[in-house]
Amino acid sequence: MNPWALITGASSGIGQELARILAQHRFNLVLVARNESRLQEVAREARADRGVQTRVIPADLARQGAAEEIFQGVKDLPIQVLVNNAGFGAYGEFAKMPLDLQTDLMQVNMVALVQLTHKCLPQMLDRRSGRILNVASVAAFLPGPTVNLYYASKAFVFSFSYALAEELQGTGITVSTLCPGTTRTEFFSRANIHMKRPWPMLEAREVAQAGFEGLMKGKRVIIPGFMNRLMAALVKCVPPRIPARVVRKVHEGDTSLPQA
Ligand SMILES: NC(=O)c1ccc[n+]([C@@H]2O[C@H](COP(=O)([O-])OP(=O)(O)OC[C@H]3O[C@@H](n4cnc5c(N)ncnc54)[C@H](OP(=O)(O)O)[C@@H]3O)[C@@H](O)[C@H]2O)c1
Repeated sequence: MNPWALITGASSGIGQELARILAQHRFNLVLVARNESRLQEVAREARADRGVQTRVIPADLARQGAAEEIFQGVKDLPIQVLVNNAGFGAYGEFAKMPLDLQTDLMQVNMVALVQLTHKCLPQMLDRRSGRILNVASVAAFLPGPTVNLYYASKAFVFSFSYALAEELQGTGITVSTLCPGTTRTEFFSRANIHMKRPWPMLEAREVAQAGFEGLMKGKRVIIPGFMNRLMAALVKCVPPRIPARVVRKVHEGDTSLPQA
């Protein structure tokens, strides 16, 4: 029997590519996001091209209780791989951003990720086998003025996942954190970030492939792309006020916001 993988944010971008790669490696798929028709399309493709089983669970992770509903929809399945990928960003000065939007961001990027991890872990611990991939960002390593809560949420994901990996050492369960740099997906348009000058981007497929390979090796931290690894290393050598200023400058130059 094929193992099962649950992927949040499987309707586009990195999550959709991770779903395709997992299907290619004969994982049955549980696909979660809000856009049901897109999820059905990913599921149809996986069944037709790879012969795997699929289950589609439309859910808005910003809603409290969503993680519990998703878990109820999969508790009959042995989830071997959990990919917490769903997430979004929001550009704007903290004080001027609607609090509801910022609360939704924290709910999707952090709370739902923690809740789904907590719900899937007991089953994995019983089996002494499981792999978790949490999608953070290179933003996890920097303060992010004007994209503040997004950067902060990714720092949370990184710290939470790394600590959990250590706690689970020797249990048969691995926790990997994927930290992509800028990647060509719908992320920027959804976050109201409009690049004014070209910015180097990886393709979602490359990022997902690196994520899958790191996950299967049980790597704790996966940073796709040499420049992103370099940046992550350099940023540790300087006081945080320097990257904070740089990030602010970059976003001032590269973004325009239809102000909320
Ligand atoms: N693109 C980048 O440059 C980049 C860099 C670093 C990290 N990341 C991270 O990579 C992950 C995937 O992003 P992406 O770049 O692939 O962007 P994307 O194309 O916008 O995909 C985001 C995914 O998250 C889902 N999602 C968003 N809000 C949701 C909600 N309330 N409930 C359920 N699902 C929700 C979306 O599905 P629905 O809209 O159908 O719900 C979609 O499937 C995110 O965690 C992001 O922070 C991206």
